[in-house]
Amino acid sequence: MADDLCFFTKDSFILKSPKKSPLVLRTVVLFFVMVCGVYICTICLKQISTGSTTEFLNFRVVQKPCPEPNIEPWEIPYVHYPNPKTYSRAECACNPVRYFAIMSMQRSGSGWFETLLNNHTNISSNGEIFSVKVRRSNVSTIFETLDKIYNLDWMSSASKNECTAAVGLKWMLNQGLMQHHKEIVEYFNTRGVSTIFLFRRNLLRRMISILANSYDRDAKPLNGTHKSHVHSPYEVYAPPLSLTHTHKYLKVSTLTK
Ligand SMILES: *[C@@H]1O[C@H](CO)[C@@H](O)[C@H](O)[C@H]1NC(C)=O
Ligand SMILES: *[C@@H]1O[C@H](CO)[C@@H](O)[C@H](O)[C@H]1NC(C)=O
Ligand SMILES: *[C@@H]1O[C@H](CO)[C@@H](O)[C@H](O)[C@H]1NC(C)=O
Ligand SMILES: *[C@@H]1O[C@H](CO)[C@@H](O)[C@H](O)[C@H]1NC(C)=O
Repeated sequence: MADDLCFFTKDSFILKSPKKSPLVLRTVVLFFVMVCGVYICTICLKQISTGSTTEFLNFRVVQKPCPEPNIEPWEIPYVHYPNPKTYSRAECACNPVRYFAIMSMQRSGSGWFETLLNNHTNISSNGEIFSVKVRRSNVSTIFETLDKIYNLDWMSSASKNECTAAVGLKWMLNQGLMQHHKEIVEYFNTRGVSTIFLFRRNLLRRMISILANSYDRDAKPLNGTHKSHVHSPYEVYAPPLSLTHTHKYLKVSTLTK
């Protein structure tokens, strides 16, 4: 029985194979290839479509992460949502941030003004950042520095936490500001930076302050230390004034203008 069965199957196989096999095989292979092709195509299409949708979603998430702030329409260009590279703004990521720059001249009270600003928990005024020459060697270094400050990546003693609501710096006119004023104005306009002009109305007082400061630098009557910025009446020191001195400084300053 077993032999018979074996023979029967062998026979039928031998009989069928030479005639039908090539055609059947070809159609089977063709069908298989078609199915595979369609399958691969659908997978590719799926990947492309999912890739684009996730990109699109990410794009939207980055572009519009926060609810509209409750402010006047004209103020909108002046609020920003910086994304610092060095840390996460965490729960304050949606607190709008304003950018500012204090433009001033030495001995005009800008240091005091900055101290008052920095007294606020959410304001960070980073000082005379461009007193360092390398940072103002050309427009690109200036922009790089500004980008870092306004992106909240600048670390200084005035840097606040992730909840900073206003960030800026103090910039003296003679620290590259006049040289590159066109580009800087353009940068401020495109980035929505507010400018605070701080100049001393009484120029004579400014001259006296310059005189006192330079005198103190050499004589150091304040306990043997020199302080260009004082924070209490006890630290204030006015040198004995002579008109010739003042006159000299007035002359120098008129010349440098
Ligand atoms: C701000 O100034 C007030 C009054 O001088 C002072 O009591 C307070 O500690 C200051 N706050 C900060 C954060 O410096
Ligand atoms: C700008 O200055 C920096 C530092 O001095 C220098 O490395 C850079 O090459 C300068 N860039 C241009 C465009 O002059
Ligand atoms: C100011 O900072 C505090 C904590 O440091 C935060 O809770 C608050 O939301 C901030 N305010 C603004 C207007 O960002
Ligand atoms: C001078 O400075 C020293 C060290 O900073 C301080 O201990 C001392 O009280 C100062 N004296 C005066 C008169 O300010």
